Amino acid sequence: MRIGTPLSNNAIRVMLLGSGELGKEVIISLQRLGVEVIAVDRYADAPGHQVAHRAHVIDMADGHALYELVKQERPHFIVPEIEAIDTDMLAQIESEGLAEVIPTARATQLTMNRQGIRCLAAEELGLPTSKYAFAESAEEVQQAIDDIVGYPCIIKPVMSSSGKGQSTVHGPDDVIKAWDYAMSGGRVNRGRVIVEEMIRFDYEITQLTVRAVNEQGEIETYFCEPIGHIQEQGDYVESWQPQAMSELAKQQSQEIARAITDNLGGRGLFGVELFVRGDDVWFSEVSPRPHDTGMVTMVTQYQNEFDLHARAILGLPVSTLLRDKGASAVIYGGMDAKGIAFADVERALHVEGSDIRLFGKPESFTRRRMGVALAHGNDVDECRVRAMETAARVKPEKA
Ligand SMILES: Nc1ncnc2c1ncn2[C@@H]1O[C@H](COP(=O)(O)OP(=O)(O)OP(=O)(O)O)[C@@H](O)[C@H]1O
Ligand SMILES: [Mg+2]
Repeated sequence: MRIGTPLSNNAIRVMLLGSGELGKEVIISLQRLGVEVIAVDRYADAPGHQVAHRAHVIDMADGHALYELVKQERPHFIVPEIEAIDTDMLAQIESEGLAEVIPTARATQLTMNRQGIRCLAAEELGLPTSKYAFAESAEEVQQAIDDIVGYPCIIKPVMSSSGKGQSTVHGPDDVIKAWDYAMSGGRVNRGRVIVEEMIRFDYEITQLTVRAVNEQGEIETYFCEPIGHIQEQGDYVESWQPQAMSELAKQQSQEIARAITDNLGGRGLFGVELFVRGDDVWFSEVSPRPHDTGMVTMVTQYQNEFDLHARAILGLPVSTLLRDKGASAVIYGGMDAKGIAFADVERALHVEGSDIRLFGKPESFTRRRMGVALAHGNDVDECRVRAMETAARVKPEKA
């Protein structure tokens, strides 16, 4: 691999589609390797915009705007950070040979819609998943529950992320409410939901999985230590690494992760979400990109998930070795306001083993993730306590 000089004719150019906190860290990892980075988001001064060579604001669901920007910037690699992109246009860009889409345009198409990835995992690859059905009306939801899924179950718009439009149905009285809520929370109102059996898991993990080029020049699959996490309202609040698991469950997790990432193909890091009970493992979903729960790797691995993604994209070798045990805890905005400040940061950083990232988002919302607290320590429980304490000590304030 030959890397040129940024802003010159021989530069390697990478375009991030989506430039939030995860994109920002991927950009920093790329910058460290001397890559020229173009950051794109739907609003100005997004976190990744602030650390890239160039920044653009477009609606990435607008295929025409996307195509024009790619023709203008001529990136070698396009790295999607979000799901809300015109993925058919990504497929066109890929087939025209304009740029390489990471990991593949097909992977972005399949994972932007819960139906695509669920049918691939369960029906084509035969991976264990919750029972499920798709429905296009409250009546069809009821039918799916009666015939296939049972109570309690979870209703999700097929196109949504971060728990938007997602709710639990405990009995027939909840069905209409869950349907209406799903219709209000979907990304593109396609009028379709997935009805999923509720899995009573002991814990859930993200199995970070990397497809990168090895010394023989072949694509090899590498696994990070499992990341445990806690979700509230479909959004992650806390994660830690490593999650203790039985050998069998760990092995099954890696097998599932290998099967799904082999099929999606390409190079890059994937976040495979799995539910675990005893030795049993269920596939839930997969992100073909760094995962929010994986922010913990900024304090646990020699090469964090963003470094791994950057290296895999460029065809460079990777190491998933764990350096330390660690945990992360989300810092929320706690208010709706622009240009907020964070007080008591020094108090937060006096917690032993702690570190923080403040993302620099121009506008705060009550439940918007504005930063993350990180901590390493001797055991995972200690790390979790430290990360939570660090996050709690950071005080968001109106400017
Ligand atoms: N079938 C299920 N059984 C039990 N819990 C579930 C099920 N589906 C979802 N959950 C819970 O809800 C969380 C969010 O679900 P899911 O990952 O499908 O939504 P999402 O909107 O894609 O979230 P994100 O974008 O944050 O990953 C899961 O991490 C899990 O805690
Ligand atoms: Mg998820």
